[in-house]
Amino acid sequence: MPVVAIIGAQWGDEGKGKIVDMLAARARYVVRFSGGDNAGHTVVNPRGEFKLRLTPSGVFYPGVVSVIGNGVAVNLAVLGQEVDELTARGVDTSRLRLSDRAHLIMPYHIILDGLQEEALGAKAIGTTLKGIGPAFADKVARCGIRAGDLLDKAVFRQRLATVLEQKNRLLTMAYGKSPLSLDEIYAQYCVYADRWAPYICDTTALLAGAIARDEAVLLEGAQGTLLDPDFGTYPFGTSSSPTVGNACLGSGIPPRYLSYVLGVYKAYQTRVGGGPMPTELKDETGEKIREIAREYGTVSGRPRRCGWFDAVAARFACRINGFDGIAITRLDVLDSMPVVRICTGYELDGKLITDFPAGVAVLERCRPVYEELPGWREPIGRVRSYKELPLNARKYIRRLEELIGCPAVLISVGQHREQTIVRKQLF
Ligand code: GDP
Ligand code: IMO
Ligand code: MG
Repeated sequence: MPVVAIIGAQWGDEGKGKIVDMLAARARYVVRFSGGDNAGHTVVNPRGEFKLRLTPSGVFYPGVVSVIGNGVAVNLAVLGQEVDELTARGVDTSRLRLSDRAHLIMPYHIILDGLQEEALGAKAIGTTLKGIGPAFADKVARCGIRAGDLLDKAVFRQRLATVLEQKNRLLTMAYGKSPLSLDEIYAQYCVYADRWAPYICDTTALLAGAIARDEAVLLEGAQGTLLDPDFGTYPFGTSSSPTVGNACLGSGIPPRYLSYVLGVYKAYQTRVGGGPMPTELKDETGEKIREIAREYGTVSGRPRRCGWFDAVAARFACRINGFDGIAITRLDVLDSMPVVRICTGYELDGKLITDFPAGVAVLERCRPVYEELPGWREPIGRVRSYKELPLNARKYIRRLEELIGCPAVLISVGQHREQTIVRKQLF
């Protein structure tokens, strides 16, 4: 009964797409359970390089059913573009399924995301401006519109009319903007309804069937634990939970069926958008990591903030998710470093702390305390087994395992599927 959750353990962009694409060779279902098109998952495989936003990263295998679960906020225009691009490149997307309970990103969500960020000025979150926050806010405020609503156009129109009246009051009275047209949005979403109706279904039933038949299911996380609304650097985070709890909630798979939880960490730290990042390097080392690793946002193209591995945050992420094992990605990025550093604690107001604090005001005052290890200074992109790794690279991995408190079962040394050291078969 393999149900494996793959969870981002930092601030996103850990290489989840690569790991899922690699593991999906042996899976039957790959399920996205959170986020939306704020995610950008890069997959490099024999078909080329792909940047997936909503489509699960298992789509390249003919035997895999790709499920967009109820926990995802879906922009159907983006999904349409993505599916068209995949189709144009010869990828069969006919096995995509979309949860009838998934919330839809509506035009006013995107407008409001922009207006809210603008209003925050220098205190802006630095969102991807995809309407994610407003869409998840509407979900819990009980004024969202779900994929299943599109299946009955009369019901959809009524629902849209009610919600739009409220949104137009907000747009015109709070922000002095023009109201949006019910007819235009309705007409546009009717086009989407016609296209997506064959894909919309009760995906919880689909997955229950998979579990009953003992078929392998991968739950593909989006974003990372440090962006979680509860456990991340609130309010500098995203609006749906990237942690393992939501792998169940956002897919409808009961927790008792999870067989393995894999945390994905990159071998250093990055962050895109605002908010504190204690190990950020604003010097030439940070610049060097950015350039070697081409650390620019998949979705927004923004330069990612780079720094040394933060083991304080990493241990916290492991505790919150209860990882069974971890994947360390992008180890090759550090190949040319004379020394590598790991943050093992923070200095806060003259005292050493080793627990990740809850408040951003506190985190901003934390100064990293580093441990330094010698670099390995040789290319590892061709290494396929742990014992072939240079001694210093193994020492680095061992220290990360010790500090995080979890075994590194996968080590990734390049973008391609096969550039992975597999130390344990997860299923
Ligand atoms: P995700 O959002 O977690 O899927 O990660 P992104 O795709 O946004 O960013 C990770 C980047 O690292 C992508 O460009 C991947 O192709 C790349 N990548 C993943 N693993 C490795 C690795 O081991 N080495 C190198 N050099 N690049 C990797
Ligand atoms: P993947 O799945 C990195 C960040 C944004 C911003 C904050 C809130 O590729 O790892 P949002 O648009 O979600 O309201 O933005 O969250 N963010 C990500 N950073 N990787 C992601 O996804 C992200 N998704 C959102 O930069 O700081
Ligand atoms: Mg990404």
